Amino acid sequence: MERLLINGGRKLDGEVQISGAKNAVLPILAASLLTNGCCVIKNVPKLDDVYVMLSVLEELSVRVSWQRNELRLDCSRVAPAAPNPEILGKIRASNLILGPLLGRFKEAEIGACGGCSIGSRPMNLHFAALEVLGAKVLPLEAGYFVFAKALRGGEVHLAFPSVGATENLLMAASLAEGKTVLYNAATEPEIVDLAGFINAMGGKISGAGSDVITIEGVKRLGGAEYTIMPDRIETGTLLVAGAMCGGRLHLSGARPEHNQALLQALQQAGISFTYNIGDSKESFIEICGCAGRPLPLQITTASYPGFPTDMQPQLAAMLSLSQGQSVICERIFENRFRFVDELKKMGASIQLRGNCAIIDGVTRLHGMSVCATDLRAGAAMVLAGLAATGRTVVEQVEYIDRGYEDFAGKLNCLGADICRLDNFGNEKGCKLVV
Ligand code: EPZ
Repeated sequence: MERLLINGGRKLDGEVQISGAKNAVLPILAASLLTNGCCVIKNVPKLDDVYVMLSVLEELSVRVSWQRNELRLDCSRVAPAAPNPEILGKIRASNLILGPLLGRFKEAEIGACGGCSIGSRPMNLHFAALEVLGAKVLPLEAGYFVFAKALRGGEVHLAFPSVGATENLLMAASLAEGKTVLYNAATEPEIVDLAGFINAMGGKISGAGSDVITIEGVKRLGGAEYTIMPDRIETGTLLVAGAMCGGRLHLSGARPEHNQALLQALQQAGISFTYNIGDSKESFIEICGCAGRPLPLQITTASYPGFPTDMQPQLAAMLSLSQGQSVICERIFENRFRFVDELKKMGASIQLRGNCAIIDGVTRLHGMSVCATDLRAGAAMVLAGLAATGRTVVEQVEYIDRGYEDFAGKLNCLGADICRLDNFGNEKGCKLVV
């Protein structure tokens, strides 16, 4: 497992371009299975999860070619097949092939989808939604076979606004007969991006971004060209890095309207920032790291537009240096505090009570050898290392590679001193000699 060596205590300063959104590009790659045409996807981040999703598509005979951050997907030979369960098991998002394959071929086989160990992550909401359209679900030894004689539109009520279930339903209903109305839909910006892509293919989806989405089924969908939205979680992670390390960070392409809950929390913590809402060329967020320690906060994670669970570990790292006692309650996943023990090794004072973390701010964190326990926890450990005094080693950085494009490289361009060491301790992309 590779690791990052971080010399902490340095101010961050400068400008960085936000990459395309992981949680938008993954469903959009899956949605390309809805057509037998060719799709061109722009602003694609180079992430391990993207590479895995592309290998799932290739298992289904999609021909993939890259040109810098642009993907060309030739879907003319797509046929239903059972992708290699080992590949499916690498990421949770592989379950997103379910909707498009069901919509196009009326059958799909998915594995017991993998991903970070932040919770049990069942599929019951996906299945309940698709069964309304006429799908039948057969459990297999390691996964599920889902099929339908025909898919007919209907009224679907999600018991919880599941992002993935909303996405699978949108994709299947796009090729169903008649109209589908989805109630209690997820309202995340990534849903809006997916609907935008399907509509560019000739789909008829309205209401995406609200909790009631209407999908008029069509007979077929064509190829399309589409540009992925900027990553709001990468944006939030770099904002918290700026808040913890001082200095002025200019995040080009960041969409303030996608980060309202986080910006509100940062404002309450005494962090100042400015922003511009515009098209991808004009929009930005600029943060001026707080002079002193951040003020304490009471935060509960929630579905969008509430405080995002994917920003919870990063905020906990910031609040471990706050001026008082903060409380963070996690309401989306049942196992998303595994990073707390790693932060405590660095001197943080945190107690877990049920699904809440009670954080008593300390004046400093000290460098230590710690582990990334999942994707966002890994990012939080890097932020803690940047703010800590001394050297921090973050093990298992492969987790971070799943969701951040060149994370260490971007931070080093902003003044951080991070060195990547391979399994043999050889340096990769270090600024200073270790
Ligand atoms: C998406 O996961 C994101 N992943 C997650 O980001 C994100 O944390 C999550 O939405 C919530 O915003 C991608 O988009 C690839 P859910 P998803 O279905 O779709 C339960 C990251 O770090 N649930 O909204 O899997 C589930 O167990 C990742 O980028 C059921 O009970 O999330 C969880 O507790 C982590 N039954 C809650 O709902 C179901 O059938 C939210 O899950 C489906 C979900």
